[in-house]
Order: sequence, then structure tokens, then C-alpha cells
Amino acid sequence: MTNTIVVTGGAGFIGSNFVLHWLARESAPLLNLDCLTYAGHLASLASVADHPRYQFVRGDINDRELVRRILQEHRPAAIVHFAAESHVDRSITGPEEFIRTNIHGTFTLLGEAKAYYDSLAAEDQKSFRFLHVSTDEVYGSLGPDDPPFNENTPYAPNSPYSASKAASDHLVRAWFHTYKLPTLTTNCSNNYGPFQLPEKLIPLMVRNALRGEALPVYGDGQNVRDWLYVEDHCDAIRCVLRNGVPGETYNIGGRSERRNLDVVKTICGVIDELCPESQYKPHAGLIRFVTDRPGHDWRYAIDCSRIGRELGWTPQVSFEVGIRKTVEWYLQRQDWVASVTGSSYRSWIETQYANRGGSD
Ligand code: NAD
Ligand code: DAU
Repeated sequence: MTNTIVVTGGAGFIGSNFVLHWLARESAPLLNLDCLTYAGHLASLASVADHPRYQFVRGDINDRELVRRILQEHRPAAIVHFAAESHVDRSITGPEEFIRTNIHGTFTLLGEAKAYYDSLAAEDQKSFRFLHVSTDEVYGSLGPDDPPFNENTPYAPNSPYSASKAASDHLVRAWFHTYKLPTLTTNCSNNYGPFQLPEKLIPLMVRNALRGEALPVYGDGQNVRDWLYVEDHCDAIRCVLRNGVPGETYNIGGRSERRNLDVVKTICGVIDELCPESQYKPHAGLIRFVTDRPGHDWRYAIDCSRIGRELGWTPQVSFEVGIRKTVEWYLQRQDWVASVTGSSYRSWIETQYANRGGSD
């Protein structure tokens, strides 16, 4: 076994942040396997394209032979599995890819990881890890007074996306119990930060506000999410990889519950301040209430005390600091935004929002 780690989905939002974070902080090489769906962008990794410890392979996690070859040739010390279809709205209009990648792709990866693990010497088997990156959405939706999700909260996924992630979590659990593959699962709350495609709430609002376009808030905007700055998530994953107990799951969250409408108003306030000359000021005037997402989960909140107590991780970046850094990043990286918002992006936005009713 070498000290290389294999990352899947490293050209997406969290994956690309993780690749950059890993190469800056660790000395081990990293191989990124990503098939570059609409959500994967090598522009996010341009700064490390020629890094001596970084290698990119374009390929699908469903390609069993390719996965086998990568594991045999690179003999990694760990697999960190980010690759997934991740957008709830897309899972509502087209669930099939979610089943293919999130469930079948994870199944394929687990099968090849097990075959590789079985080939390792006993000493190497002790340290090998398969880390599955999952979501808090598997736990379903909370009411206003419910306690936050902990690792023992029963699964109750409500969207095709969360159902497919829940299925993948169960497969990972089964591969630990049945085959003794040393797995770790992390269930994280909503991430935000650099390199997030503007189809998700925060970057969509930043992009639209800067262009003077409507800010589409679903329903009454009272839904709550628990926001985590992506750099904190990357740190948590490194921490679980290093110190997590095989077979266990760890909840990761930002201790930053916010209503959607408050998030959007905060973004508008930061943009008003950073762009005092903007003709669209005050940007909150661009807010429009639009028809709600079907099956929209009302509230997510994570109890991340276990990872704090057992592994010593806590979120470091407050929402107020993180959101300002994020808006500043998008202002500075309009080149990146332009590179990921071509015709396929525009056609998604058109289908999703053009005829969506609602009230101001
Ligand atoms: P993303 O949609 O931005 O990126 C997904 C990446 O996976 C893309 O680069 C895509 O090309 C790649 N990919 C998709 N299908 C693939 C396949 N079949 N083979 C190889 N590569 C494939 O996703 P993200 O927001 O960065 O999320 C990453 C992971 O973290 C996902 O597993 C997601 O469920 C989980 N997660 C996300 C959040 C969040 O707030 N974004 C929070 C908690 C957990
Ligand atoms: O909780 C973790 C999950 O967070 C991850 O597993 C998912 O991959 C990630 O996409 C995210 O899911 P959400 O559905 O919570 O994120 P999204 O950014 O799509 O929406 C956040 C909230 O904002 C949600 O309540 C819906 C609302 N929303 C979203 C969009 C895109 C709007 O009001 N308007 C919008 O245009």
C-alpha cells in the first residue's frame, strides 16, 4: 500500500475544496476520479493541475474495470467518496441519475474497495479507510422545537436525492458489518463557500443580485438550514479520516441555523456594502417569493457534539464571517462564475424558474 488517497467527485464543489485543502496541508499524493458531469469543473482545480502530488482521471465510479485498475495501480491508503448527484431540485425533475450514481455507483466502489482491501497485507488492512461523504438530509425534516439530528436519529429521507443518499449510507454500513471493510460515514449539513455552482441557494442569490436579477425564494422563505463553511467541512473530513472509528458515523454541522429569507437578506446586505455604487441597491428589493419546492423539508439542524467530544473537531468559521468571505470570493472570481454558467446552466435556470408562479 502507498500513502496516496483516492478521491471521487473531486471536481465538484466540496470535492475541489477538499483537493486544494489536502494538497496544502498533507504530504500524501491524491488521485481525483471524476467523470465531469454538469457539476464537475476542472477550472476549480486549475491552480493544482500541475501539482506533483495531484493526478486527475476522468472516469465514472460505475466503471468497475477503471475503478479496479486505479486501485491496483495506485494502492491507496484511503478512498474519500464525494461523487454524487447532489441537487435536490434536479432529483425531483430527473431522479434516475441519482439512483445510478448515488446508489449503483457507491455499490460499485464498495465492491472494488473490498476486493482491493482483501488483497492487502494484514498490517495495511489495519490502516486502510473508506470514507463515505453523506448528508443530514437522510434524517428527514425537523419541526421548530425538535432537537437537532444526532447519529441515532432514524432515517426518514423525503426527496429522491436524500433517499438515494440514505440507500448509499445503508450499503456502506452493510459492507462494514458483512465484509469488515473499514468504513467511515459523515453526515453533513448545508455547505457554502468558493466554487459552489450557482444552482444552489447561496451562490445563485449572489450571482442574481450582482446582475440585478430576481432572487427566487421558495415558499415563504421560513425554511431553516444549518450552514457550514466548506473549509470547516474539509477539516472535519480529514479529522474523521485520521481518527474516526471504523464502522461509525459522524454528524458534521455549522451550529448556524438560519431561515432562508434571512440568509438572502444577509447576502443582499453584504453586497450593498461591498458594491456601494451598484444600480440595484438595495439588493433586497430583488427578492421574489416563488412556488415552493415539492416535498420541501422544513428544517435541518445538526448536533455535532459527537465529533467534537470524540475527535476534537468543531466549526471555526461563523456564518457572518463565512458569508462575507464567500461574497468577496464570488466578486473576485467572476471569471470562474462565467466559466460554469454556459448554455447548459442557463437552460437549467430557464426550466426551473421561468414559469414558476409566486408572489412578491
Ligand atoms: P457537486 O454536485 O458539486 O459535485 C459532484 C461531483 O461528482 C462532480 O464533480 C461530478 O462531476 C462528480 N460525479 C457525479 N457523478 C459521478 C460519477 N458517476 N462518477 C464520477 N464522478 C461523478 O456535489 P457537492 O455539493 O460537492 O457534494 C459532494 C458530496 O457531499 C455529495 O456526496 C453530497 O451528497 C455530499 N454533501 C453535500 C453537501 C452540500 O451542501 N453541498 C452537504 C452535505 C453532503
Ligand atoms: O443539507 C445538506 C444538503 O444541502 C446537501 O446534501 C445537498 O447536496 C445540498 O444541495 C443542500 O440541499 P438543500 O436543498 O438544502 O440546498 P439548496 O441550496 O438547493 O437549498 C437551500 C434552501 O434554499 C432550501 O430550503 C431551498 C431554498 N431555495 C433554494 C434555491 C436553489 C430557495 O428558496 N430558492 C432557490 O432558488
